[in-house]
Amino acid sequence: MIADLEHEPVVERLRRRVGETGGLVDAPLDSPMLQPYEVYDQDLFDLEMVRVFARSWVWLGDTEDLTEPGDFITGTIGYQPVMAIRQEDGSVRGFLNNCRHRASGLLYEPAGNCGKTMTCPYHNWAYNIDGRLIGIPDRARMYPDDLPTSDYGLVPIRIEVAWDKLVFGCLSRKAPPFREWIAPLAERYDLYRFGNFTRYYRELDETYPINWKAFAENSNDDYHVRFVHRRLNRFRKQMDTIVRFEGRTCSGFKPHSDEENATGGRDDLTPEQLLGHYADFIYPNLTPLPYPTQLILVRADPVAPDCTRLFSRIYGIDKSTEEQDFELDRLATTNLEDTNMVTELMKNLRSPFYRVGPASTWEGRAAHVMKLVRADVATPLADDEFDGPVAP
Ligand code: FES
Ligand SMILES: [Fe+2]
Repeated sequence: MIADLEHEPVVERLRRRVGETGGLVDAPLDSPMLQPYEVYDQDLFDLEMVRVFARSWVWLGDTEDLTEPGDFITGTIGYQPVMAIRQEDGSVRGFLNNCRHRASGLLYEPAGNCGKTMTCPYHNWAYNIDGRLIGIPDRARMYPDDLPTSDYGLVPIRIEVAWDKLVFGCLSRKAPPFREWIAPLAERYDLYRFGNFTRYYRELDETYPINWKAFAENSNDDYHVRFVHRRLNRFRKQMDTIVRFEGRTCSGFKPHSDEENATGGRDDLTPEQLLGHYADFIYPNLTPLPYPTQLILVRADPVAPDCTRLFSRIYGIDKSTEEQDFELDRLATTNLEDTNMVTELMKNLRSPFYRVGPASTWEGRAAHVMKLVRADVATPLADDEFDGPVAP
């Protein structure tokens, strides 16, 4: 896999290290799984923030925070801070959350309403919510008359609102539209009608000492589930799990035991959808778990090679506060079981001598994701990656 990454100083360095540390662990089978030398390298991480995240669709939030003009949400795509704002005409537009003067942020809350304008706290440049630069204090004294103000509006990014509910952003203009990005899941997801689901009253937001790819690998590993999440075994027919992966999505279907009826009274879904739930994955960092009347979303935000924030929300139909607490607590426990396990691996992956073993059938989608990451890291962004319109 390293051989794919030609002409990168970071890769040259990794290759030397791999050569120097090889041989202690005799691994006769090539493994596509995450290797120790891919975990702690800052340069590799920086490259991932560009080559994986700049060309991907990233989940930013939902339309419940975007009902009125001026309503906004903020987030990050890799290292890049971004915002999405409801416009006067009802559309949702996205921008980099950076003033065009210096690198200051403009919006500081996860969600809110900024009225009709945003004013930068540093030197008070002001922008309309449609992105136009509309105010520069003491402009006549500070700049010549021919300052090209119209070129210094907020930098637009692509935004797509899926199922009238979930807001995704993308820096690249070359990435396919969101629906194409998630094509293998799209029709199944349409049936759930997520637009009818509402957000639970609180979210989960924790940071863990793990690498984002280690979490992605765990999220796409259907093999560990009945050992690490043993308490759930009686609610599932674990051995009937179905593993699927294609394009930029993955899916593990989890049929429920008779003890856990999944339908929630619905009969407008496929027989498979009614029998259980899915642990899906939307590359690069979103784990959706759709049930007939509930949608769990877990997003892994990379912070540093050994630091990842997990941000989780749940949506559902007609759930009481008690039911919401039950599901949120259950998700918190699952997240902790996973992150405790991955934290244990992280300690041992610090040693560069170790080589991981082969991928099992039920780690097929994890292997798929690792290959997608490596393929992106090996491919520079296109010269025209950021040329073209933001709207479809
Ligand atoms: S950094 Fe925004 S006005 Fe100077
Ligand atoms: Fe897990």
